[in-house]
Amino acid sequence: MAETEPGTEAGWFTLRWRAGAVELLDQRQLPGEECYLLLREVDELAEAIETLAIRGAPAIGCAAAMGVALGAARSAATEIVDLVRDLETNVIPRLERTRPTAVNLFWALERMRAVLNRLAEEEGASVDSFRAGLVAEAEAILEADKLTCRRIGLAGAELVPDDARVLTHCNAGALATGGYGTALGVVRAAVESGRRVQVLADETRPLLQGARLTAWELSRDGIPVEVCTDNMAGDLMRRGEVDLVVVGADRIAANGDVANKIGTYALAVLARAHEIPFYVAAPLSTIDLKVADGSAIPIEIRGRDEVARIGDRILLPDAVGVRQPAFDITPVGLVSALITEEGLLRPPTRDGIAALFDSLS
Ligand code: MRU
Repeated sequence: MAETEPGTEAGWFTLRWRAGAVELLDQRQLPGEECYLLLREVDELAEAIETLAIRGAPAIGCAAAMGVALGAARSAATEIVDLVRDLETNVIPRLERTRPTAVNLFWALERMRAVLNRLAEEEGASVDSFRAGLVAEAEAILEADKLTCRRIGLAGAELVPDDARVLTHCNAGALATGGYGTALGVVRAAVESGRRVQVLADETRPLLQGARLTAWELSRDGIPVEVCTDNMAGDLMRRGEVDLVVVGADRIAANGDVANKIGTYALAVLARAHEIPFYVAAPLSTIDLKVADGSAIPIEIRGRDEVARIGDRILLPDAVGVRQPAFDITPVGLVSALITEEGLLRPPTRDGIAALFDSLS
């Protein structure tokens, strides 16, 4: 069993490397309890990702990077060559199996793989310096993610007018990233620039990330937030009570199609029908150029109980099946702008995405 410790800081944090282990806020317990897990084994960390103790594409990537460092710290290997083999055959594949849709997981593991290969080839490298190099890289990924979110926020703030009523889905906030958030980073940056913003958080069935997490982190920051059930969005839009929608993404295809929490597509269709802008905020590490369009994005199917029960309460007859895709695809044509750390793609297109990556290479 992982050790559980109360948070020791005045504020809170999503995750960090501490004392040779990964410390993370257990999001399964929010908003009732703020407790931190100190995870010392790769399996514990992998389970934390699978059970959504930590979730949200960028945060999953940061956690996976730390998982590689953790695997190196725990490995009994005494030679670098054996350590590399252990990471390649046990640790990285275990982490890769945790969640299939969030591409930041694979992005971060690829980055760790590149660093471990470089470290292994360094002249005079010791097992200790190899392990320390992996910790440093995982911490660098976490710190870079926080900065990236700030830049996404700054790029997107101009899309949020004063007195805006902003609808969001799931949680694409500080809890879903190293800190600050993507969609909620846009909200935070607008608020920091002096604008008044009212957030409407979809509750986000079945796991209630909007109600439990978005509402928790925004209220902790004093940002006005109300929770609405998922089926209210259309009526709120028809009444003129939503000025814009901003969501995050788990994976964006090369043509701009967006995989995000189930229910995002319905919001995008509703936003189009009501002529409301629909924005997607995400780091470039969420764009998967290897995937041509949304139809090729793997969609995670989660367990029946997440729909069929709430706690101990059974919600439907035992013999009845459920549909439980965790994500859906929003076609790029419904996206008004993609907000990245490198600025806006407004609207996003295959050519625009390719040109952006070309300009950075
Ligand atoms: O299943 P989850 O809670 O990991 O789903 C998270 C989302 O769908 C987020 O919107 C997405 O990962 C972007 S987080 C910045």
